[in-house]
Amino acid sequence: MGLALHRSDNRVLQYGRNTAPLPPTRGTYLLRILFVADIYARPGRRAAAECIPRLIQERDVDFCIANGENAAGGFGMTDNIIRKLHAYGVDVVTSGNHVWNRPEFVRHIGQHDRVLRPLNYPEGAPGKGSVIAEDRSGRQVGVINLQGRTFMPDIDCPFQRGRAEVERLCQETPIVFVDFHAEATAEKIALGFHLDGLASAVVGTHTHVQTADERILPAGTAFLTDAGMTGVRDSVIGTRADVAVGRFLNQVPARFKPADGIPWFSGAVVDIDEHSGRASAIERLHIPVESGGADAGDED
Ligand SMILES: [Fe+2]
Ligand SMILES: [Fe+2]
Repeated sequence: MGLALHRSDNRVLQYGRNTAPLPPTRGTYLLRILFVADIYARPGRRAAAECIPRLIQERDVDFCIANGENAAGGFGMTDNIIRKLHAYGVDVVTSGNHVWNRPEFVRHIGQHDRVLRPLNYPEGAPGKGSVIAEDRSGRQVGVINLQGRTFMPDIDCPFQRGRAEVERLCQETPIVFVDFHAEATAEKIALGFHLDGLASAVVGTHTHVQTADERILPAGTAFLTDAGMTGVRDSVIGTRADVAVGRFLNQVPARFKPADGIPWFSGAVVDIDEHSGRASAIERLHIPVESGGADAGDED
């Protein structure tokens, strides 16, 4: 009986189709976006250096977005690291609460054309929260970075500010990708439904733990609660396990140190119809990286 119900449920069938690996090449009317989950410190950058150029080539990717809030030693970004991410093939770098960790970077974050901080910080915060950039064929792609408020700083409403910004970008292009940097799964899923049929994709970041709920929402928005982390597997969300365990054990603050070891690459690939802006498929990526590409970094 349960099987019969499954067979009659279109969304279940659609879900099943969308979880299968996408074909290596996409149709010409599709725009394929590679999203890279929070790149954490040097091991994450090594995984990014190894995987991003390869995936762009092998999967025929048109546009790449990566969350870089932890790229510099787990805390923020630097100009040099932004340059490297762009060199690996990242078109737009998104971020989150850790974007503010390095004052020397924050001071001129506005000079980076394709680096975002969450849009819904109050007026006066440096940087910008959205951008329209061109894919490799000259098609316009809108990208918006939002941040949640549950168990996080009490900034402006991501639902109201986010929806207004999606509607504004949709005047320019039907293709709008949202990175929702938030802690609570319910807040993230709710935003997905709030933007369903407006945004092409809503993909969550921040927890560094990938969820297995990728799907196309009823009105055509690709959704994933959290894309995970591109960083060391044997770590506590990127930091050394011994330091994290000690903090929980004795409640004494200790400085987090980035873990070293074998990383994994996490993210998602989304196919979007270039005319309607609706997503046709989303595939979750979670790839062990045994070696990693070169990253003669200037930071941890
Ligand atoms: Fe993060
Ligand atoms: Fe975060």
